[in-house]
Amino acid sequence: MTSPHLKVYPDADTVARAAAELFVASAERAIAAKGVFSVALSGGSTPKAMHKLLATEFKTAIDWVNVEIFFGDERCVPPDSELSNYRMARETLLDLVPIPLDNIYRMRGEIDPNEAAKLYGLQLKDIFADGGIDLVYLGMGDDGHTASLFPGTSAVDETEHRCVANHVPHAYIPKGTDWRITLTAPFINRAACVAILCTGASKAERISQVLEGDDDPRVLPVKLIDPSPGQLYWLLDSAAAGM
Ligand code: 6PG
Repeated sequence: MTSPHLKVYPDADTVARAAAELFVASAERAIAAKGVFSVALSGGSTPKAMHKLLATEFKTAIDWVNVEIFFGDERCVPPDSELSNYRMARETLLDLVPIPLDNIYRMRGEIDPNEAAKLYGLQLKDIFADGGIDLVYLGMGDDGHTASLFPGTSAVDETEHRCVANHVPHAYIPKGTDWRITLTAPFINRAACVAILCTGASKAERISQVLEGDDDPRVLPVKLIDPSPGQLYWLLDSAAAGM
């Protein structure tokens, strides 16, 4: 595993600012080099503060027409469901910036999970061939899951496909979201840069276990994230880094 860059900030707002600055810098570099910047957004609550900064203070610093948006995972619900990661990204960012709709690659949570995963995987193959996304944002659940790679689920063992459907026991997630679509660890690890954003004391013990323990990645799937030759950043607030 290449050693991750561990960045600790005073609070969640400064983590969001650092994550937004990483977006701007990565976009500038990728667009200057190849005319396009690909980024995968994460679900959950942590990314919202970063999205708000990208849609306001940083909005004009980004060449949105050359940005392509992907998703790390999606709940198998309609796109207008309050549980949808796409809806969260739309409401907090995508509807607020001048990004062409064709540049947004949505995981189709409203159709059969395996069909949706297959279609998304074909899109990723068509766009990236054997390459990867420029920047992938991830979160980490209190149980050590990331994207929708949950402990002990089949997606954790996937080595062939870029995107799979994953059935997740209710123990881990809110009712009604037991089927997920997720990027797989091997595809995430093709990214030029992966940024895992974690804030809050509830994550501290698990982060310590992930970074310092020797647990099996099937039990702590965020340990599967090891981009190479890409870079891995953990962007933490002091509460999450408390241990
Ligand atoms: C999802 C997310 C998930 C999230 C973690 C952390 O679909 O829920 O992709 O992997 O990143 O659960 O969520 P918070 O940011 O809310 O702590």
